Amino acid sequence: MGVVASAPAKVILFGEHFVVYGEPAIVLAIDKRAYAKAEIREDKRLFLRSQNLNLAGFFDNGNFKVEEGNPKEARIKLEPLKCAVEKVLEMAKEKVGLNIEVNSTVPVAAGLGSSAAVASAVAAAVGALLNVKMSRENVFRIAFEAEKIMHGTPSGVDPAISTFGGTLLFQMDTGFKPIDVKMDIPLVIGNTGVERSTRVQVAKVRSLRDKYPQIIESMMHTAREIVLRAVEALKGGDLETLGELMTINHALLYGLGVSDESLEWLINAARKAGALGVKLTGAGGGGCMIAIANTDRLEKVLEAVQRAGGNAFIARKTDEGVRIEPS
Ligand code: MEV
Repeated sequence: MGVVASAPAKVILFGEHFVVYGEPAIVLAIDKRAYAKAEIREDKRLFLRSQNLNLAGFFDNGNFKVEEGNPKEARIKLEPLKCAVEKVLEMAKEKVGLNIEVNSTVPVAAGLGSSAAVASAVAAAVGALLNVKMSRENVFRIAFEAEKIMHGTPSGVDPAISTFGGTLLFQMDTGFKPIDVKMDIPLVIGNTGVERSTRVQVAKVRSLRDKYPQIIESMMHTAREIVLRAVEALKGGDLETLGELMTINHALLYGLGVSDESLEWLINAARKAGALGVKLTGAGGGGCMIAIANTDRLEKVLEAVQRAGGNAFIARKTDEGVRIEPS
């Protein structure tokens, strides 16, 4: 008998990268989820397996033994999850052996927050299995620790949205506030298929900021203004303004050097097909772009991104953050 928990992927509508330096961001949970199943083992070892990455191995008293995939890759990718499990075991004040199986419908290393969604789902599944009273705040904290191992200096926006769901206005020092969004946000997500590392993209922006502090500071200011205007547009159901702001936001990200040819290709295709606004989402350097469009144009935009070679789909926002699945 095991427990299954799940957590949603996300798209950052506005403010990625700038959020790492304390600026606000707007982030939306979407209807693609990562699942984690936790079961007790007879021995005291921890077995972790990621179905979609084809990686598996045992953690046993500080040693790692690979069972599936490249040993180095398996250790690096499974280590954050091991840490999440250990944090829950500390809360449970128990030392039990566990089997954890992860299965995700979220494309990996694509800017959709797959690592945070997996970490939140793992923390919640182990917590429920061991009857630990875990608030969402606890799940968020644990997933955030896992993200630090994975990405270096993350803002926390990904674990926040995968835990709490909905639409959030996120800022590092003030935390997050739900935004009351009544409007439908017709959204196309296009995956370039180019996998990239959030850590590398964040480091790239840091060195640009070190080189041009004043210039980047004024871009930060502009990014903040965009987010503030976007909150009003979201509350007022103003899709056209949202689109324009997305396009301006993308120009800033392009300036930071985190767009690439694969993203620009899909972005141009969506623009030509009549999207109201298009931008990269997440860390960039590959990964995904997003486009919003009036409902009657959405299919056209989707087809255009697919024709341009993107693995594209229509996404819906979801209010559901991390949850225990019915057994
Ligand atoms: C990654 O989804 C978003 C970044 O802003 C990094 C972060 O906020 O941790 C690029």
